[in-house]
Amino acid sequence: MFADFVLRPVTADDVPAVERVTAEAFHELDLRTRRAGWPDPVPRSEEASARWRERLGHLLRTDPRGCWVAEDRGGILGAAVSLKRDLTWLLSAYAVRPGVQGRGVGRQLLDAALGYGSGCLRGMIAASDDPAAARRYRLGGFTLHPAMQLTGSVDRALLPVVEQVREGSAGDIDLMNSVDRQVRDSAHGVDHQLLARSHRLVVVDRFAGSGYAYVAPGGGPYLLAATSRRAATELLWETLAASSPDTPTSIGHVTAANEWAVDVGTACRLALHTRGYLGLRGMKPPTPYLHSPHFL
Ligand SMILES: CC(C)(COP(=O)(O)OP(=O)(O)OC[C@H]1O[C@@H](n2cnc3c(N)ncnc32)[C@H](O)[C@@H]1OP(=O)(O)O)[C@@H](O)C(=O)NCCC(=O)NCCS
Repeated sequence: MFADFVLRPVTADDVPAVERVTAEAFHELDLRTRRAGWPDPVPRSEEASARWRERLGHLLRTDPRGCWVAEDRGGILGAAVSLKRDLTWLLSAYAVRPGVQGRGVGRQLLDAALGYGSGCLRGMIAASDDPAAARRYRLGGFTLHPAMQLTGSVDRALLPVVEQVREGSAGDIDLMNSVDRQVRDSAHGVDHQLLARSHRLVVVDRFAGSGYAYVAPGGGPYLLAATSRRAATELLWETLAASSPDTPTSIGHVTAANEWAVDVGTACRLALHTRGYLGLRGMKPPTPYLHSPHFL
């Protein structure tokens, strides 16, 4: 056990150091869990680091009591960042510096973040492939639903014509909150304001089914929610059409409840692998839904 450290809420001054610790921990995890045939893991880019800092700054303003760091005299050892939306507790980030993992720092951080969610009816975690993380989440009472990822370059010739999807804007936030509540009981609320600024947004708004998707940088879905599989499928195709034919893209965070997304990825010949889990408490895997890793 590693005793000589303290836990305290994250402050705005900690943001760069917390970003660094998470970047190091995830890069080390990618190296440790790399698979034959996958691209070599690369450190987080400066662009992705800037997005990460912006996200943490946003969550510090909305959920200051959900964001915790562990530190010793040498600096920050790890962090757990969580948020609450409509009685759902969500874990946005969780990492401990590679040299000090496995010594109890992560347990205390997760306990502090879970304490912020006491009284919530539901919980959601996008869990990595790290067995240490899976252990902590299961001991925290989460059911671990294995997830899939489809990866590859999208052949333009296989893209169908999608007619019902339009560009979205901040004016669609009420519609998106309503879709969120139908699909997963809680709205993303204030997070839509950040997401609509930082991502391309596409929307379907029809009597037979509505939904939205934020497009990941480089194409593919970052977050997708819909009230029908047909709307979800059209939105997913639109996010894939945004990818470059020469650069691999991915459909990640696909639970078995979202086979419609496996069917889209299979139709455009992406390679299917298992990757991580969706950890849930008090709810079933949402569908049609592809959760975001940071706002779920
Ligand atoms: C997940 C993480 C935050 C946990 O922090 P930590 O300080 O290592 O956590 P702890 O030491 O408190 O707990 C880890 C537990 O997993 C166990 N563990 C470690 N490696 C393991 C392995 N390979 N298989 C099974 N259990 C393992 C530890 O023994 C410990 O359990 P115990 O306390 O009952 O003995 C940290 O390991 C990490 O940063 N991992 C990489 C990033 C990541 O995956 N983050 C999670 C994002 S969803």
